[in-house]
Amino acid sequence: MKRILNFGSLNIDYVYAVQHIVRGGETAASHGLQVFPGGKGLNQSIAAARAGLRVFHAGLVGDDGNLLLDTLRADGIDTRFVSAVPGRSGHTIIQVDENAQNAILLYGGANRAVTSEYADTILEHFSAGDILLLQNEISAGPHILRRAAEKGLAVWFNPSPMDDGARAFDLSRVSVFLLNEIEGEQLTGTAEPGAMLDRMTERYPQAAVVLTLGAAGAWYAQGQTRVFCPAEKVDPVDTTAAGDTFTGYFLRGMLDGRTPEEALRLAAKAAAIAVSRPGASPSIPHLQEVES
Ligand code: RIB
Repeated sequence: MKRILNFGSLNIDYVYAVQHIVRGGETAASHGLQVFPGGKGLNQSIAAARAGLRVFHAGLVGDDGNLLLDTLRADGIDTRFVSAVPGRSGHTIIQVDENAQNAILLYGGANRAVTSEYADTILEHFSAGDILLLQNEISAGPHILRRAAEKGLAVWFNPSPMDDGARAFDLSRVSVFLLNEIEGEQLTGTAEPGAMLDRMTERYPQAAVVLTLGAAGAWYAQGQTRVFCPAEKVDPVDTTAAGDTFTGYFLRGMLDGRTPEEALRLAAKAAAIAVSRPGASPSIPHLQEVES
C-alpha cells in the first residue's frame, strides 16, 4: 500500500452554536460550546485513515496537544513525525448557525512554527511512490511542496485557507488539486465551474483537479476529461470538515484503482454523512459505514 504523508495542521476547535453568525460590532450570545479535535490536516488524516489508508501525520502541537495526538493515534495514524513545541497548539473559534453554516476564526499557534529545516528532517524518510497531502494551514508549506516534488512524491494539494501565502506555492508541481468553489474562483478568476476546470487544466496540464461545490456536487477534471458527481441529499447539521472528509475518501478511491466517478461517489457519500453530524473529526465516518 502507498504511504501517505500528511504534513498538516492540528487545531483544537471551539465550536459555538449560534442563531446567526455574529456581524462586525455586534455582541451575541451563543447557546452551546463543544470542543473537538480538528484542523484541516488532522481531519484529512483521520478521513484517509478511516477510509482504510496508511497515514503518517507530520506537524507540530503545543503544550496542550495531547488531545490532538491521542485523536490521531486512536485512528491508527502514525504520529512519529508530530512534535511538541512550547506554547499553544493551533485553535479555532467556530460559529455554527441554525442553517449549519459556519464561520471559522483561526489561531495558527504551533502550526505556524513549522520550519523548512524541520520539514526536511521528515521528508528524508519518504521517497518516490509516496504521496504528500498538503493544505495551507502550516508555515513552510511552499518549501514542503517543492522539496517533496523534487523527491518524486505525488503532491495532493488543498490550498485552503486561500490567503496571500497561497501564492507562494509552486502549483506547477502539484499532481492533484483539491478545491472548493471559493478556492477555484480565487485561482482562476471565474466563478463558473466549467470555465474554472478549463483554466486549471490548461494552466496545470500535469495535474488532475477535484472541485467540490457542496450541495451542487463535485467535478473531476484531467486534460479533456470531465466527470460530475451529484451530492447526496442530507439534512445538514454542521458542514465543518465536509471537504476534509471528501479529500480522504477520494484519495482512498483513487488509490484503490477505482474510476474517478466511483471515487467521487465514495467521497460524496462520506462527506454527506459528515455534514449530518456535529464537529470536525468526530463527524468523519468509517469506510464500513460509508459502504453500507
Ligand atoms: O476544515 C475544517 C477545519 O478548518 C476545522 O477543523 C478547523 O480547525 C479549520 O482548520
